[in-house]
Amino acid sequence: MTISSIVGCIYLTHHREDIYPEPKCFKPERFLERQFSSFEFLPFGGSNRRCIGAAFAMFEMKLVLVTILSHWGLAMADTRPVRPVRRGVTLGPPSGMQMVLTAQYKKRSPQGITSSV
Ligand code: HEM
Repeated sequence: MTISSIVGCIYLTHHREDIYPEPKCFKPERFLERQFSSFEFLPFGGSNRRCIGAAFAMFEMKLVLVTILSHWGLAMADTRPVRPVRRGVTLGPPSGMQMVLTAQYKKRSPQGITSSV
């Protein structure tokens, strides 16, 4: 008896032109323009195998990004296109990717910083 598994490809779903016009463009505003269903946007998988660390990962990413991007401007050290590598069922950037500091922003008082993490 042969047992087979069928796994949806998150990368290909997130690159569907009909769901994400210009899928290769970094357009975070697309998430403000419409709501995606759990069949269209599934970075953490779905159903009974959905990532149990999803809420923690989102919280952590928001904290890390707001901390880094409010202090520094960054750019890729190498401007060639990044080739994604497979990490389990997900894809990510290759390890050891280097970035360069392009700006350092002035520190603001804690009262001046608001965040909705
Ligand atoms: C950006 C960060 C993360 C991404 C993109 C991610 C993505 C995923 C995906 C797609 C799956 C489903 C795998 C499958 O269908 O077999 C998964 C499962 C899982 N993730 Fe994550 N994950 C992240 C962070 C985390 C964190 C922080 C934790 C723990 C604190 C975690 C723990 C798990 C566990 C235990 C499973 C297996 C759930 C199961 O099979 O029932 N993940 N993750």
